[in-house]
Amino acid sequence: MSRLLSIDYWNKRYLNNDFSWDTGSITAPLQHYFDQIKDKQTYILIPGAGNAYEAEYLVNAGFENVFVCDFAQTPLKNLQKRCPQIKPQNLMQMDFFKIESLKFDLIIEQTFFCAIHPSLRNKYFQKAASLLKAKGKLVGLLFNDSLNADKPPYGGNKEEYVNYFRDYFKIKIYENCYNSINPREGRELFINLEKINK
Ligand SMILES: C[S@@+](CC[C@H](N)C(=O)[O-])C[C@H]1O[C@@H](n2cnc3c(N)ncnc32)[C@H](O)[C@@H]1O
Repeated sequence: MSRLLSIDYWNKRYLNNDFSWDTGSITAPLQHYFDQIKDKQTYILIPGAGNAYEAEYLVNAGFENVFVCDFAQTPLKNLQKRCPQIKPQNLMQMDFFKIESLKFDLIIEQTFFCAIHPSLRNKYFQKAASLLKAKGKLVGLLFNDSLNADKPPYGGNKEEYVNYFRDYFKIKIYENCYNSINPREGRELFINLEKINK
């Protein structure tokens, strides 16, 4: 299997309603995190965003610089329909690894990391750090569970992930998530990693 699954692969999964990862609404850990951000000008990127309920929540809460990136067109169209006030130019239908010339204060992770091939994990953190401003943060959820070895969602664990991000991020929070949605309870970590300025 190719290291990067194709746009077609992901788009078909949406078209075939084959998206068991989709929670149908914002998840509690991210909602709680967003609710304490005061600056509505914060530049926020949600990569591998899928139907992006988090983006919808943020835009409805008055955040003005919310960007989403996904390979697949279908979920981005869904988001635009549900949330017409999102800026069309902030919907990036493209490969996360190819985003350039934009800098963010915050990047949000939820079930994107587990969708990319494990051989790209180091590159994921390197890319996220490169897209962040000084002291920018990567915040969200990572599975702490073996899951699959040969197809998404690819599993992993707390000890392993540190090796991928330690050169790019310092830990502010890296612990078992206490308010996961039920099916993910006890199986995910809440992360708040701050970019190391080199
Ligand atoms: C498992 S889904 C998660 C979607 C969303 N984060 C959620 O929680 O519902 C993974 C998403 O990542 C997208 N994706 C995979 N590889 C990508 C890449 N290299 N660049 C951008 N999006 C990608 C897929 O199209 C898919 O929507």
